[in-house]
Amino acid sequence: MKATWILPDGREIAAEVPAGRNLMEAALAANVPGVVGECGGSLSCATCHVHVAEDWFAATGTAGDFEEAMLDVSDTPRADTSRLSCQIVMAPGLDGIVLRVPQA
Ligand code: FES
Repeated sequence: MKATWILPDGREIAAEVPAGRNLMEAALAANVPGVVGECGGSLSCATCHVHVAEDWFAATGTAGDFEEAMLDVSDTPRADTSRLSCQIVMAPGLDGIVLRVPQA
C-alpha cells in the first residue's frame, strides 16, 4: 500500500507501507523530514503531527481524547485535519493516503 507525504516546500515523498505499520514509523522509514516520532508512538510527544489531506481525513477514523489533547500542545500549527501519525495504522482503506507535514 502507498502513502504520500507533502512537505511544506511542496516536495512529495511516496513510500510503500505494509498493512499494520503506523504512519509515523512509515515516515521514519521513508526519511520524511519533519516527522520525528520522538516518543516511539506512545502518544506523548506530538512530533509525528501531520495534516491529513481532506479527502482522506474521514478514513483515518477519530482521534481519541488523549490524542486531541496532545494535538493541542503540538509545536506545529493545528489544522481541522490534524492527526498524530503514530495513531494511524495502514490498512486497505488507507491505500493511497496523502499527508501534509506542517511547517515547523
Ligand atoms: S510519535 Fe510521539 S505522539 Fe506520535
